[in-house]
Amino acid sequence: MSIISKDITKAITLLSNDELVAIPTETVYGLAGNIFSEKAIQRIFETKKRPFFNPLIVHISSVDVLDTIVSHVPEKAKILANTFWPGSMTLVLKKTKKIPDIITAGKDTVAVRVPNHPVTLELLKKLPFPLAAPSANPFNQISPTKPEHVEHYFKHDIQMVLDGGACKNGIESTIIGFENDEPVVYRLGALAIEDIESAVGKITIKNKKEENPDAPGMLDKHYSPKTKTILTSSILAEIENHQNKKIGVLAFNTSFKSDKIAAEIILSITSNLQEAASKLYDSLHQLDHLNLDLIIAERLPDIGLGKSINDRLQRASFVAL
Ligand code: TXA
Ligand code: MG
Repeated sequence: MSIISKDITKAITLLSNDELVAIPTETVYGLAGNIFSEKAIQRIFETKKRPFFNPLIVHISSVDVLDTIVSHVPEKAKILANTFWPGSMTLVLKKTKKIPDIITAGKDTVAVRVPNHPVTLELLKKLPFPLAAPSANPFNQISPTKPEHVEHYFKHDIQMVLDGGACKNGIESTIIGFENDEPVVYRLGALAIEDIESAVGKITIKNKKEENPDAPGMLDKHYSPKTKTILTSSILAEIENHQNKKIGVLAFNTSFKSDKIAAEIILSITSNLQEAASKLYDSLHQLDHLNLDLIIAERLPDIGLGKSINDRLQRASFVAL
């Protein structure tokens, strides 16, 4: 029997009883639990096989409850929250004592966001507690953007995926921390840098592990298909490097029409970066299930959401030396 269901009352009952429920957001599906239930939070880490040093994002119903979660909100954080919430932006701020250490991996900051999905906003409004929710995928694997992706990963581990359809934005939230009250981007994501800068001016990006010991989740390899993946600006040249291999291509806006390609997915024939982002993970899930020898992905223009998509493909294709 499928664990995918639209029954929000059932989701409330499970979450109120220390159980996990996968929830839809506009970015990716999250594996959610009550932030105050030690049992639920432990289960999140166990189910994902996520190391305990990697903290979780707290999801709240509106900016009005932010003061119960964080103790200091810099001026630019207020502007960002009021401009972009509900939406695909996570703020990392000083936590209040109420936030359990297991959520923040012992750090004195907490990551928080108001997701922009009607089903999950309704759920959060009805629950007397916020939800901790990392992306609902096993550690390092491709994030889920459809309920079926979560079911495929976790049908033996959780009782319910709350069905909210396909995720509109399709890649994770942009994470913004504060250094001396100035915003710093720790993870590129579904809110473009250009949009953030139009609200608060020029911002620094520190999304590499070396630059940023403060964002423990910034792994070199992440969001990865099981199939070996290569990122390139020149698909046809890369294909020539892999003779007699079963190759899948993830193309930006055009077909490469080569008989050396076994499967091809085009992210957006109209070169729309928003469409490309929304299709990125589903396309990787599809290619990963075709028993290919290799996925060759095309680098996108390095602007707007293209930057965030390239970041994900870079990590998906990372090979340690
Ligand atoms: O779009 C999203 O953000 C999705 C949906 C479900 O909301 N969630 C998500 O969670 O992507 P997760 O756990 O896969 O990624 C959260 C990232 C991790 O890289 C973690 O290290 C970072 O946020 N993070 C959490 N708390 C932090 C903190 N206090 N300081 C720095 N980074 C933090
Ligand atoms: Mg994740």
